[in-house]
Amino acid sequence: MTHFDLVLRGGTIVNVHGRCRTDLGIRGGRIAAIGDLGQAAAAEVRDCTGLHLLPGVIDSQVHFREPGLEHKEDLESGTRGAVLGGVTALFEMPNTKPNTDIPERMADKVARMKDRSWCDFAFYFGGTAVNADRLHEWEHLPGCCGVKVFMGSSTGDLLVADDEHLGRIVANGRRRMAVHCEDEPRLIERRPLIPAGATAHWHPLWRDEITALRATQRLVTLAERHRRKVHVLHVTTAEEMAYLGEHKDWASVEVLVNHLTLAAPDCYDRLGTYAQQNPPVRDARHRDALWKAVADGTVDVLATDHAPHTKAEKDKGYPDSPAGMPGVQTLVPVMLDHVNAGRLSLERFVELTSAGPQRLFQIQGKGRIAVGYDADVTVVDLGAKRTIENQAMATKSGWTPFHGMTVTGWPVQTIIRGRTVMRDGELLAKGVGEAIRFLA
Ligand code: DOR
Repeated sequence: MTHFDLVLRGGTIVNVHGRCRTDLGIRGGRIAAIGDLGQAAAAEVRDCTGLHLLPGVIDSQVHFREPGLEHKEDLESGTRGAVLGGVTALFEMPNTKPNTDIPERMADKVARMKDRSWCDFAFYFGGTAVNADRLHEWEHLPGCCGVKVFMGSSTGDLLVADDEHLGRIVANGRRRMAVHCEDEPRLIERRPLIPAGATAHWHPLWRDEITALRATQRLVTLAERHRRKVHVLHVTTAEEMAYLGEHKDWASVEVLVNHLTLAAPDCYDRLGTYAQQNPPVRDARHRDALWKAVADGTVDVLATDHAPHTKAEKDKGYPDSPAGMPGVQTLVPVMLDHVNAGRLSLERFVELTSAGPQRLFQIQGKGRIAVGYDADVTVVDLGAKRTIENQAMATKSGWTPFHGMTVTGWPVQTIIRGRTVMRDGELLAKGVGEAIRFLA
């Protein structure tokens, strides 16, 4: 009789191409069997009747602030929020202090995760004018998911503002390169337009649609010229979506939970600077265009851009307040609520949060529930109705833009390579996180 470490019995397994109500057998951290396991011996059999089993949710854009800004977040608190929210793996950004832009700093971040990370992880390497010529070597360092470039100033000082340096970076590497597309010259030009006493309502006017579109077009032009795949992070405008829909050969597309869920002016009326993010949350016309791009396939992945700042920092008032909102813990609940509202299917959610990142970044052993793959499973209760609250957030920043929102759909188990790290909101296995492996 086959022996399993864990059998998840009677849940509905969801993959990109459909769902099936059956059993899932896990052995040695991997998925060992799918099908009727009625008679199989197992160390633990867990009844999952009424629950859905998704491939582990991957948040491919978070900022965890360690080293250097641990008063906002650190690698332990950030990954704890992830698993409480059903996230099994994530990619973390390089705008820490110091920036992750030399190999020693990448190795330092990976070392800091040992016995501390609640989930699997990879780190972005920051591309700069200084390191441009070495990136083809450094993008392959252990624990690295690729190079990230900021074309517009945001939190921190990573910036590549001009096409000459950006082109050198694009030409110097093979892996898909992730880019924050806002045009720095236009940001500088428009900054003085912000009047004294302006509120956060001004944020999408300063960092306007043209600022985003111009940078995206500059990037894609260089990507085509150098035949390098690029990943346009957090796309926010209807115009970029139309453009990117015609340039999918070289550019992949990310949207954020926030940009699909919030809209101007309401979010600035309610949340003020707490809704301030780069690129900004825009009006409903743009939000509708993002949903259309989710529906028609233009969008490849969904992430959070979890970017915690303290309340004291946010309370400085616009425009001195920093941009960014926490989100890794609320990705799954907020998106399941969208699923329940009929805005996307559960299969499409799976594509955007596991199969999609796997395909774009060539992640090994993740992205689907199939025999031989890592046993990363996000178990969700689609019928659970709960209210998101600040007090339940693990983030050191202590708040969420979704405080008070009642959602239908909640993550109830986070299983990482066969280890149950979270069950019914309880944390069960600390420090199991390992570096994600990549095929290319
Ligand atoms: O709003 C943002 N916050 N956008 C970014 O690009 C960076 C992030 C942060 O690190 O705070």
